[in-house]
Amino acid sequence: MISLTVCNHKGGTGKTTSIMSLAAAFGFSGKRVLVVDLDPQGFLSRMMGAVDIPADESSALLFDASVNPVDVPRLKMDGFDIIASSPTLTSEMRRLNKGTDVLWLKDFSKAMNQYYDIVFYDTAAALTVFCLNALVASEHVLIPVLPEYQPVIGAEQMYQTCKIVQKKLNPALNTPRFLITMVDARKRSHARYQRYLRGKYKDDVLCGIVRTCAALATSDRDGKTVFATNPRARGSIDYANAADELYSSYLAVEPVGGKDTQSTAAAQDVSPAAARDVTPAAAQDVTLAAAQDVTGEVTPQDPDSGGDPAVPLAHESLNPM
Ligand SMILES: Nc1ncnc2c1ncn2[C@@H]1O[C@H](COP(=O)(O)OP(=O)(O)OP(=O)(O)O)[C@@H](O)[C@H]1O
Ligand SMILES: [Mg+2]
Repeated sequence: MISLTVCNHKGGTGKTTSIMSLAAAFGFSGKRVLVVDLDPQGFLSRMMGAVDIPADESSALLFDASVNPVDVPRLKMDGFDIIASSPTLTSEMRRLNKGTDVLWLKDFSKAMNQYYDIVFYDTAAALTVFCLNALVASEHVLIPVLPEYQPVIGAEQMYQTCKIVQKKLNPALNTPRFLITMVDARKRSHARYQRYLRGKYKDDVLCGIVRTCAALATSDRDGKTVFATNPRARGSIDYANAADELYSSYLAVEPVGGKDTQSTAAAQDVSPAAARDVTPAAAQDVTLAAAQDVTGEVTPQDPDSGGDPAVPLAHESLNPM
């Protein structure tokens, strides 16, 4: 089984849409897929028709020591299961303020190994305790990025956050990969930001892109994935291709239902027996350090600094192709 977190510091970049579409694509190709909605706003759950989910049936239970993770209700959708969000996650966030509170999902991911081939974590557009939990419990990260100024900055911040999490909390976390979303071929700036990302991050950017697609834009109110709405739509084709690409790089090397990657290097370093093996003080330090590093180190690069291509500072500054 693999665990994959989908995140970006910037909102509205296609995180939830990507998870729904990729989960459906993997599900239709025979993989056993679980989606965990960790966004207190719960748009993914809502989009799949899981509305007004009570706290005691939601992903909030994953942060309750009295609940066995295996018992958390998983709702059956067309092609995948979900653990829905509830607004309680907002108040839970205030409670989860200890250093070890970033380790809750690690044991959960391990527990899901026997049931699923892939677990997706949907996160809110912020570095919350839920996002950190997902990163600590995952081997892979996908950062959907709209090829525009703010989303690119948010994506780069997220990339750096992941590197820090990899260094300090989860050595098994692979280098994040970007999925360029909502691409409008008519916009020169989109082409320019795509070139920027590919030039700087090379193979860490998926070859496939997701173009703007009306069927994707409406799927959030239809409660269906794009494949059910219109299998011939651009969004269906693009997400099927992205799923293929992810499959060949992540899953093809892994026997279905086989190796438990959660129990390898990372698990040895930061034990999944979370609160027992990591002292609260140490984990708190790591969390705070991570947050400081992220806010302190990630700034748009100076365009004149040479080296890596500079972040275009605004649409206006972009040269026409
Ligand atoms: N390829 C696309 N073409 C057109 N519209 C899209 C596309 N991808 C996503 N959208 C629409 O863009 C909006 C934002 O997408 P989505 O909710 O997936 O982003 P998000 O990153 O999860 O947002 P948030 O940060 O609020 O959780 C939604 O209305 C969605 O339907
Ligand atoms: Mg979302």
